[in-house]
Amino acid sequence: MSDTSFPRHRIRITLLENVHPSAADALTERGYAVEVIPRALEGRELAEVVAASHVLGVRSRTKLREEALAHAGKMLAIGCFSVGTDQVAIRDAAQRGIPVFNAPHASTRSVAELTMGAMIALARRLGDKSNALHHRHWDKTLAGAHEVRGRTVGLIGYGHIGQQVGLLAEAFGMRVLFHDIVRKLPLGLARPIADVDELIEQSDFVSLHVPETPRTLAMIGAPQLTRMRRGSYLLNLSRGKVVDVEALRAALANGHLGGAALDVFPAEPTPTVAEFDVGFADLPNVILTPHVGGNTEEAQRAIGLEVAHALSEFIDRGSTEGAVNFPQVNPPSMPETHRILNIHQNVPGVLAAVNNIVSDVGANIEAQQLATTRDIGYLVMDVNRELSDEVHTRISALPMNVRTRILY
Ligand code: NAI
Repeated sequence: MSDTSFPRHRIRITLLENVHPSAADALTERGYAVEVIPRALEGRELAEVVAASHVLGVRSRTKLREEALAHAGKMLAIGCFSVGTDQVAIRDAAQRGIPVFNAPHASTRSVAELTMGAMIALARRLGDKSNALHHRHWDKTLAGAHEVRGRTVGLIGYGHIGQQVGLLAEAFGMRVLFHDIVRKLPLGLARPIADVDELIEQSDFVSLHVPETPRTLAMIGAPQLTRMRRGSYLLNLSRGKVVDVEALRAALANGHLGGAALDVFPAEPTPTVAEFDVGFADLPNVILTPHVGGNTEEAQRAIGLEVAHALSEFIDRGSTEGAVNFPQVNPPSMPETHRILNIHQNVPGVLAAVNNIVSDVGANIEAQQLATTRDIGYLVMDVNRELSDEVHTRISALPMNVRTRILY
């Protein structure tokens, strides 16, 4: 399979599922031909769009599995305008030479703000007070209402979101502790705690900001909940399976915990709107939200811009920085050179083979970068003279070639 380079206005980008208009605007401004289809697609309709597009942008409802990707003959890249990439068969895409980009951190601030909101709502029992008044019940008692100032928040996972929560919490006058498996520079006055149990024991609020991994599955279960201070609160705006929900329900029902805020659940409905019983409805001071931590206009706009930027950097320069399924190469722009992008099966001898073809036509290599994953390799080579179609044809004919593009 091979691709030749052609002008931006001939690069056809299709954006599905109401991707935020910031993406279409940014890509149109760069000069690509952008088509917007507001719906999710499947079956034959999806296959046709896959076959016709150089770049496809999806949110979470369009599933790009092997059957759909089989039509991706001319596809250069896929953009997931979302945090996750479960909707795409990313390994299959990589084997076809298609990098997949997403926006893992565009909603960071939105999640951090909701976490702070939930912390205050828990400390003031706002969920219950609001529910009561919705049912015409005026309850002005102050029992169990506190300020967050001076209280301790323990962050488990001190990545993008955890760090933002730490900064915001500190601005509220809270003491911030964090635990992470990776050594992290503390921001502000935050204090790292190596032992997660110690963090749990010292915190009034335990807030989870870890990814779902084999190690984080049910990492908060009965033993950890028992260690939490009596009357303390648990917040989970990360992934549902990080908490053993049965154990949490028990710790809330027996009054050991003062409350919990849950934005994520072990199994969540797929449609945006659905009937769903999370099973905490009967428990006091439990704030329940339907996985809306990152659902803000600002986050959607930022996702649109972040993915659009990554896609155009790949199309125009060959950068795969941030791709979830691809070797990472971010070559600087080299004036006065011509660039070969070669995606190949990860077998020995590719570099020598491409070098030979290039030196046969008398071109000098100015720079080259090669990165590999288990299955594929990605070579970016800058040479000092314009390359003919013959070079493209010869590289594309190499047995290990997956895709080759020659840029400028
Ligand atoms: P990140 O990758 O920037 O940070 C995660 C941190 O957790 C890293 O520092 C990592 O070293 C640490 N970590 C991993 N395993 C750990 C363990 N076993 N113990 C302690 N620390 C561990 O991720 P980010 O962007 O901060 O996201 C955090 C979580 O929030 C993720 O689960 C993400 O899926 C979720 N999220 C939820 C959203 C929502 O709508 N509620 C929206 C966006 C993200």
